[in-house]
Amino acid sequence: MTSRTIPKSVRDANGRNGKALVLFGDDNGHKNQAAFGKPQVLTGDCLRVLPTLPTESVQCCVTSPPYWGLRDYDHPGQIGMEASPEFYVANLITIFREVRRVLRKDGTLWLNVGDGYARNGGTGNCGPNAIVGNTKKLIQRRNCKVPDCWGLKDRDLMGLPWRVAFGLQADGWILRSRITWIKKTAMPESVKNRPTSATEEIFLFTKSINYYYDPLGVREPTGANLRNYWLLGPDPNGAGHPAAFPRELARRCILLGSREGDAVLDPFGGCGTTGFAASELNRQSILIELNPTYAQMGRDQPCNGKKTRVKTTGS
Ligand SMILES: C[S@@+](CC[C@H](N)C(=O)[O-])C[C@H]1O[C@@H](n2cnc3c(N)ncnc32)[C@H](O)[C@@H]1O
Repeated sequence: MTSRTIPKSVRDANGRNGKALVLFGDDNGHKNQAAFGKPQVLTGDCLRVLPTLPTESVQCCVTSPPYWGLRDYDHPGQIGMEASPEFYVANLITIFREVRRVLRKDGTLWLNVGDGYARNGGTGNCGPNAIVGNTKKLIQRRNCKVPDCWGLKDRDLMGLPWRVAFGLQADGWILRSRITWIKKTAMPESVKNRPTSATEEIFLFTKSINYYYDPLGVREPTGANLRNYWLLGPDPNGAGHPAAFPRELARRCILLGSREGDAVLDPFGGCGTTGFAASELNRQSILIELNPTYAQMGRDQPCNGKKTRVKTTGS
């Protein structure tokens, strides 16, 4: 990771109450202004861009990194294409250490991470001469050889969300909740020897034992305190991104973890779901996205293009 000198304008920026304009530089050294309510999208590798953000400037981080070996986001610097899931976990710990610096003392991290299966040549398209489609490249690679770590065997569920969670916990984060996102519409899987996966984890991490959490931000329909399982469908129009999460997911995390005028961060911004939810809720937002096409979507409009379907293989 390269660290840069933070300009004075950035160090002095105040992200609360929506009054200040926050100046940040992106990977290409461009200056950007985060106007109140409008997402600020920085194009670049979050490993490089996060160190340019001011310390304790953001109230809440809502994000979903690429899952290991699953999709190809068409960039050599992408997270998720590490040779081993061990390196993936290590990379995420490094990135979220920087997120912790950027978060206010009473800030929260809402982290959605997905799992995957260890496979030995499951697809028949392994080896250097395999002809594979662009979006299936990483799935194929993942399915070629069981990773040599954690005692994994062929067809083992890797338990990646919890491995990441334990890694972050050991790195200093406080793990406060595990929320299960139950998908109304599950991704089709061609499996006949186990149930289809239709859930994902969202972890709530904090920097300190005293943190901002608004229990009235989202309630159960009965008025009771919100439970830790969320039944959410995909956004009605789909998305112009293969792995966008539902706007409602981001909306809930933002309502629970910030006040109007606060700054919200997504270091894996995708097509900008977190930013659009933040704007609707009168929060500032800073998104970092490696792929310029997705970054532009985050600047332009809510994610409502045609969804690129990527079918996962049965493992
Ligand atoms: C799971 S998607 C996030 C989708 C997002 N939550 C949304 O709703 O649109 C992960 C994103 O991280 C981006 N990405 C991968 N590696 C990155 C990196 N090192 N820095 C910044 N973004 C990265 C990918 O291009 C992809 O768009």
